[in-house]
Order: sequence, then structure tokens, then C-alpha cells
Amino acid sequence: MRGSFITLEGGEGVGKSTQARALAEALRALGLEVVTTREPGGSEGAEMIRALLLGGPEERWTAEAEALLFAAARADHVAKTIRPALERGAWVLCDRFLDSSLAYQGGAGGLGTDRVRAINLFGLGGTLPDRTLVLALSDGAERARARDNDAPDRIGGRPADYHDAVAAAFRGLAGEEPERIRCIDAHGAPEAVTERLMTALADLLPAQQITPG
Ligand SMILES: Nc1ncnc2c1ncn2[C@@H]1O[C@H](COP(=O)(O)OP(=O)(O)O)[C@@H](O)[C@H]1O
Ligand SMILES: [Mg+2]
Repeated sequence: MRGSFITLEGGEGVGKSTQARALAEALRALGLEVVTTREPGGSEGAEMIRALLLGGPEERWTAEAEALLFAAARADHVAKTIRPALERGAWVLCDRFLDSSLAYQGGAGGLGTDRVRAINLFGLGGTLPDRTLVLALSDGAERARARDNDAPDRIGGRPADYHDAVAAAFRGLAGEEPERIRCIDAHGAPEAVTERLMTALADLLPAQQITPG
């Protein structure tokens, strides 16, 4: 049986990577095989493209070239890492995926979500998330600044209005696909956030065996 494909989304510093680790532990405690991965990256070739995308000056890429590089990295990541894991029955937890491209390059970057979706679907071979958890936090930028010692990567360093547009785009995507995309309040202790995420996955989890007392 194919595993479930779960993606964690949201802006900078909202807790995606922290929650990817915690959620993997919680799912493993239920006896599931879990593969954690991240974007851009997650396969050998995609990690090379990650360095090209996140390093260097803002003007290194045009908006179109940047969107195509994300899509190219994603095509390799899906083919080499994600689809093989799902096919052997593992759950895949991915820190950022397609919706980040839609929100950043499509929404905030002005390319349009439909055009960015189209260039991505070309490379995905039909592999799409079963559930997408968008973490929503008012002070993610402050957490990201503290974590990065004020040295953000090429995309994190964009102006505040860009990141506000990213957050708005994620909300818009969630409104369009409420069955797949769930917005999760990311305020509070990490353990409380993990519980909210598990609740948003409850319908995908295998039925628990109840041992008669
Ligand atoms: N619930 C939380 N409360 C306080 N700090 C947190 C919480 N979750 C994550 N952090 C911290 O905030 C920073 C950003 O979290 P991170 O998981 O790296 O975010 P993202 O991957 O979304 O950019 C990190 O320094 C992390 O340790
Ligand atoms: Mg992260």
C-alpha cells in the first residue's frame, strides 16, 4: 500500500523544520516508516540546485529562471527520493514543496500561481501531497532572524512586503483547496503545535489496534 505524502509549508521561521522532526517522531511512534526530506533539495542533484538558488546575490537569477530551477530540483527529488519511498509504503514528510513555489515565485514574485503550477506539474509525474500543513505564525521573521544571526539566504533576505505577500498567498491557496491544505496555528510550545498537526492528519492514520483489556 502506498504511503501518505505530507508537506509542511509556511514562511520563514514558522517552525517547519522543527515540526518536521517532531512529527516524524510522533508518526514513527505509531509504527509507521517515515522518510523526512526538504526542498529545495532532497536528492543529490536537487541539493546542487539548492546551493545555486539560495546562495549568491538577488540578481543571480531572473524570476523565471528561479522558478524553473525550483521545478527542476523538485522533478529530481520526486523521482529519486519521494516516489520510491511512497511506493514501498513509507510516509514521506517534506519540509516545503510545490505550494512554496506557488506562494513565493507565483504569488509574491508575481509570476502567477497558474503558470508556476504548470511548469511544476510537468516534472511531478502525478505525485502530489495527500495533505499540506501550512504553519501560520505572526513573528516568524523574528525567529528566523535570531536563528540566522541576521544572515538570511537569498530568498529569506527579501523585503518584509515580499514575505507578507507569501503569507497571504499561502492563505489563498488554503482557501482554494481546503481538503488538502490545512492552516495550523504555529504559536505556542513546539509540543502543542505537533499535537495540532497530528490532529490535522488523523483521518489519514491507520486505525489503531485496541487491545482488549
Ligand atoms: N514553537 C516554538 N517556540 C519557540 N521557538 C521555536 C518554536 N518552533 C521553532 N522554534 C525556533 O524558531 C526558529 C525557526 O524554526 P524553524 O523550525 O527553523 O523554522 P522554519 O523551518 O519554518 O524556517 C528556530 O530557531 C527554532 O528552534
Ligand atoms: Mg527550515
